[in-house]
Amino acid sequence: MKIFKKANLILMLLVLSFLIGCKGNKSQNNQNDEESVNVSYSEEELYRPNFHFTPKKAWMNDPNGMFYYNGYYHLYFQYHPDSNVWGPMHWGHAISTDMISWVEQPIALYPDELGTIFSGSAVVDIGNTSGFGAASKAAPIVAIYTSSKQLEGDDNWKQTQSIAYSQDEGKTFIKYENNPVIDNDKIKDFRDPKVTWDEERNKWVMVLAAGDKIMFYDSKDLKKWNLLSDFGQGIGGHGGVWECPDLFKLPVLGTNESKWVLFVSINPGGPNGGSATQYFIGDFDGTTFTMDKEFETSLNKKHNYWIDFGRDNYAGVTWSNATRKDGSKLMLGWMSNWDYAQKVPTEAWRSAMTIAREVQLQKGDNGYRLLFNPVKELASYRSTKYKKANITIKGDTKLIDSGAIDLARVEIKFNISNLIDEGFTFNLTNKQGDSLAFGYNHNDKNFFVDRRKSGKIDFSEKFADRISTAPRTSLNKDLSGTIIIDKTSIEIFFDNGETVMTEIFFPNAPFEKLSIKPKAQEFILSKIEINELNFN
Ligand code: FRU
Repeated sequence: MKIFKKANLILMLLVLSFLIGCKGNKSQNNQNDEESVNVSYSEEELYRPNFHFTPKKAWMNDPNGMFYYNGYYHLYFQYHPDSNVWGPMHWGHAISTDMISWVEQPIALYPDELGTIFSGSAVVDIGNTSGFGAASKAAPIVAIYTSSKQLEGDDNWKQTQSIAYSQDEGKTFIKYENNPVIDNDKIKDFRDPKVTWDEERNKWVMVLAAGDKIMFYDSKDLKKWNLLSDFGQGIGGHGGVWECPDLFKLPVLGTNESKWVLFVSINPGGPNGGSATQYFIGDFDGTTFTMDKEFETSLNKKHNYWIDFGRDNYAGVTWSNATRKDGSKLMLGWMSNWDYAQKVPTEAWRSAMTIAREVQLQKGDNGYRLLFNPVKELASYRSTKYKKANITIKGDTKLIDSGAIDLARVEIKFNISNLIDEGFTFNLTNKQGDSLAFGYNHNDKNFFVDRRKSGKIDFSEKFADRISTAPRTSLNKDLSGTIIIDKTSIEIFFDNGETVMTEIFFPNAPFEKLSIKPKAQEFILSKIEINELNFN
């Protein structure tokens, strides 16, 4: 009897442990269960990019206060350290020597009695115009940001502009005692100051988003600001509120001419829905921004100009004090979209930044166009290489098969020398049956990224309901592209950066195969180079 009881007990324990084991397996394998339960570290890491900046934990949006000084690129960012959705904003901080590998730093700015810390910029005050410089040799860094204070009522706030200074090269900031430096009682959306040094006129110039226009200010000392002019009402895209402007001068490639560029982010109202950033080319005379006549005509006739036609590049601005020798500027953007950013299937952290990009200006058959390309610093991470020339692409042609190159961290460069009439599709796939398609439709002169089958898509209705398309602007018969893939993002730079598409996706396992196929006829892929990028 005793023996029977003992055997029974063992059996019961065995059954129980089997049941517990089954339950454990189920929740591990069933991806759809994971939204409601705590997500384990490894599931989080399934989506965390290899080389795009993400905060270790919590919510991030716009890049802020980017400047270069003494060998370091600084990136501050809209940060809500206590949650994985947007909330009271702080400035997080990260530093890098090459804009690719980032090291996160302690939070730089915390909310105060004037409000939470919205987007803004930072400058290296080399001439100590502000008088914030300490006795030491380092130039003061001055951050100019929006203080946003919630008033009674849900959708009611007061936004003013404040400054803070750093005497230790951007590590810590002291808020200016006479904040705000620009007060405001009238305008509801009044934010995101971007300040630049106007070399010709020896003064600081600020662009500020004010509802449906950009306001221009100047200052000699970063403390006292004078309103100069405004720009933008009825011009360009107005499907949503204007945000995060930037103003800078660029040389026109191969000429002695220079033009001024104005970036304006808009949300919603992007070319493929939700958030996007448009640009204007013109001149700035120290007071007023005037669009170039030719640019204005083509803006009226054709379409607006967007820095990126993908859905995931927003609020991008350029680095202060970081102009390259050839005059090009450096920038990055927030790699998400307000349409679904707060719902993407990561839990411990949310959002990445785009790869840093060089910005140049070219004047071609189509008038002025900005060119965006990944910063050249990325090249030093290249390792294993796949290289082929003159391949005839007839049907679905495999380029990379299971694991030959880690497609979760690659740079692809390709050339098609004589465009066929119809177009081509690249396909990234994994064993789980997920796929990401991207390519070109020559009939419609449209580029596309199709993420409808790219893995998890059901977290938001707005994520995968369409193919993103961008019109080709180049008249060239040859088509070239650079593609950057980092596990959960693709950034495509067509025609030397004239047309850019950035999109995120969430496959159930990393993609491991890459193929290309013609839409109908065969064509020659004259060059393809795939570089695995190594970050160890
Ligand atoms: C853009 C934006 C800015 C604002 C910030 C708040 O994404 O709405 O206009 O300063 O985010 O986090």
